[in-house]
Amino acid sequence: MSLRVAILISGGGSNMVKLVESMTGDHPARPVLVLSNDPEAGGLARAAALGVPVAAVDHRPFGTDRAAFEAALTAPLAAVAPDLICLAGFMRILTPGFTRAWAGRMLNIHPSLLPKYKGLHTHARALEAGDAEAGCTVHEVTADLDDGPILGQARVPVLPGDTPDTLAARVLVEEHRLYPAVLRRVAEGNRARLDLASPA
Ligand code: GAR
Repeated sequence: MSLRVAILISGGGSNMVKLVESMTGDHPARPVLVLSNDPEAGGLARAAALGVPVAAVDHRPFGTDRAAFEAALTAPLAAVAPDLICLAGFMRILTPGFTRAWAGRMLNIHPSLLPKYKGLHTHARALEAGDAEAGCTVHEVTADLDDGPILGQARVPVLPGDTPDTLAARVLVEEHRLYPAVLRRVAEGNRARLDLASPA
């Protein structure tokens, strides 16, 4: 029996597409749901076009009541009984109650070399700091933001003239390699850290 994977998105869902496309053939997992906090998220149509069931729970009516939003989010999730949740550009902070419920079963991709630059504006902060390299991290989700055990990282050089946008684009290429690779390993029961070599 395949592992069941739900993917949570907020935007265009390019990482989600790469995850979905990776789960074919002898891959031990299959996508069972793409879920967004934004009913207008572009990734929902992309997921539907790939034949994956989609759902949305708009966070806005819940205001600052994160727990109530998460309770609503749990309904479509529970309906598909996922073994793993992949956060893929999901831009809502989760409460400890939610992260505890999915402890060890929820992954996230973050566009920095954690533990550097948790939170937002990672590329601008790497440039401001004068870093020579940047990258992305896939980690287990725990109660603390962008802080769980690291499952994999990929690195890119920072180049002269980089802007946050050019650096983000270079990192995103690596996100698309790293996340499917880590998901496959985790689905196979391998949580040893993966450090992807830079492409030649
Ligand atoms: C990705 O760069 C992802 O790492 C980042 O949002 C982007 C989503 O792009 N996630 C975070 O910043 C999480 N804090 P996508 O929708 O095209 O996958």
